Amino acid sequence: MGVHWCTFVIVLGLLLVLESGLFVNGGLTSSFTRKFEKTVDMPLDSDVFEEPPGYNAPQQVHITQGDHVGKAVIVSWVTMEEPGSSTVVYWSENDKNNKNIAKGIVTTYIFYKYISGFIHHCNISDLEYDTKYYYEVGIGHTSRIFWFTTPPEVGPDSPYTFGLIGDLGQSFDSNATLTHYEMNPTQGKTVLFVGDISYADNYPDHDNTRWDSWGRFAERSTAYQPWIWTAGNHEIDFAPEIGETEPFKPYTHRFQVPFEASQSTSPFWYSIKRASAYIIVLSSYSAYGKYTPQYEWLEKELPKVDRSETPWLIVMTHSPLYNSYIYHYMEGESMRVMFEPWFVKYKVDVVFSGHVHAYERSERISNVDYDIVNGKCNPVKDDSAPIYITIGDGGNLEGLAFNMTEPQPMYSAFREASYGHAIFDIKNRTHAYHSWHRNQDGGCSGNLIFLVRIMALPKLQSWRLNCEESWQFVVARVISHCA
Ligand SMILES: [Fe+2]
Repeated sequence: MGVHWCTFVIVLGLLLVLESGLFVNGGLTSSFTRKFEKTVDMPLDSDVFEEPPGYNAPQQVHITQGDHVGKAVIVSWVTMEEPGSSTVVYWSENDKNNKNIAKGIVTTYIFYKYISGFIHHCNISDLEYDTKYYYEVGIGHTSRIFWFTTPPEVGPDSPYTFGLIGDLGQSFDSNATLTHYEMNPTQGKTVLFVGDISYADNYPDHDNTRWDSWGRFAERSTAYQPWIWTAGNHEIDFAPEIGETEPFKPYTHRFQVPFEASQSTSPFWYSIKRASAYIIVLSSYSAYGKYTPQYEWLEKELPKVDRSETPWLIVMTHSPLYNSYIYHYMEGESMRVMFEPWFVKYKVDVVFSGHVHAYERSERISNVDYDIVNGKCNPVKDDSAPIYITIGDGGNLEGLAFNMTEPQPMYSAFREASYGHAIFDIKNRTHAYHSWHRNQDGGCSGNLIFLVRIMALPKLQSWRLNCEESWQFVVARVISHCA
C-alpha cells in the first residue's frame, strides 16, 4: 500500500471521527529537528543596515494605521543630519495629478550618551478604502517615494490577510523570518506585531544605534504595509543604572499608534478596525489591575465591538496567557486572571502573543471558574474561549525556547521551537485560515488551522475545522457548539 493510500485511510478514519462529533484531544509537540546554530545579530556593516544615499535622506520609514477604521496612515521616518521637512506628499494611484500635502511633527530624545536623529511622524487621513497610494518624504533635500494600499471598507465580509511576527530583533534569523514573510505567496497586507522589536537593550547602555539599525533593516516591509505595534518588555528600556528611568522612552519617540481614536489614554493599549477584524492591543507591561486605566478602558471597549460589523475579534498581548514552555512560564498569569473572563464573555476569536521564542497554539480552553474555595483551577475546553497563539519566534539574538513543560498539557494543541512567522487570512465572516511557517521549511507551512464559523442570530453557532500538518501525518477535527 503506497503512502497516498495510507494517508487516505488515515484521513478517512479521522473524518469518520469528525462525523461522530467527538472531540479528539491531540496535543502535539513537533518532532521537527533543526541545526542548533547560535543566533547572532547581523554586524552593523551588513547591507540590510545601509543608510539611503544622499544628504539627510529619510531612513527607518515605517507606517501604521492612523485612525480607528483604516482611512488614515501614520508615516514615520528619521533624518540624521538636520530636521528637514516633516511634510508628506501623497497621491492616489487613481489620481496621480492630485497631490496632497500633510504636515507632521518632529521629535528627538537623548538616552544616556546617545542623541537620536530627527524623528518625524505625519498622519495622513481621509484616504479612500482599498486604494493604492504613493507617498514622498524628505522633500527638503533628498526625497524618497514609497507606497501602501488602504484596507477595504470595514464590514463583515471584507477579506483581509494579516501577517504575524513577534520578537524579531536583528539577527541573521530575523532577516530570514522577514524574507520568508515577504515571500509567502499568501501575501500578508498588514503585520500584527506582538512586541519586542529591536533588542537594543541587550547591548551595553542599551545602545540606541541598534534602534536605528533595526529601523533600516525592517524598512523594506514597514514602509510599504502597516505594522500594528504591541509593546514588549524589550521596549521598556528602563535603565536607572545609567540614569534612564523613563520607561518606553525610545519606543514612544519612534513609534506612534492611533490610541486616542479608540478613547484610550495611553499608546500602550488601543484598538483598531481593519476590514472584518476588530483588533485590541493590550500592554503586558502597564498596570491592568482593577481600577487601572487599562482595565477600565478594556471594560468599556469590549462591549463596543459589533460582531455584525467586525465578526473577527483579535487581541494582541506580548506575554502569552497560556504558555507551556519553561521560558517565561506563567508570566502572563496575572493578566489571564484579570482579563480571561472578559475574553470568554465576549467570545474573542484568537489572542496573539509573543515573548516566548517559539510557536504554540492552544486548544479553545478557559480557566475562569476558580473562586478560591471551589478548587476549579484547571483549564477546561470552552467553545466560547479564544485560541491562544504564541508567535514569539521572529529570530532575535536571545535564541529559541527549546525547553518545554512535560508532559504537554491538554490546553496546548501544538508547539514547536523554530523561527518563523504566521498568517491570519480572513476570507469572510465565517471563514479564516491560520498558518504558521517555520523558516527552515523554505516557507512551507508547519502548522495549519482552518476556522469556520456559522453565524446564526441571536445565538452564535460555530463550527471549526482544524487541520494540522506535520510532515508525515494529518490530524483533522471538527468541533461544533452553540453559545
Ligand atoms: Fe519579550
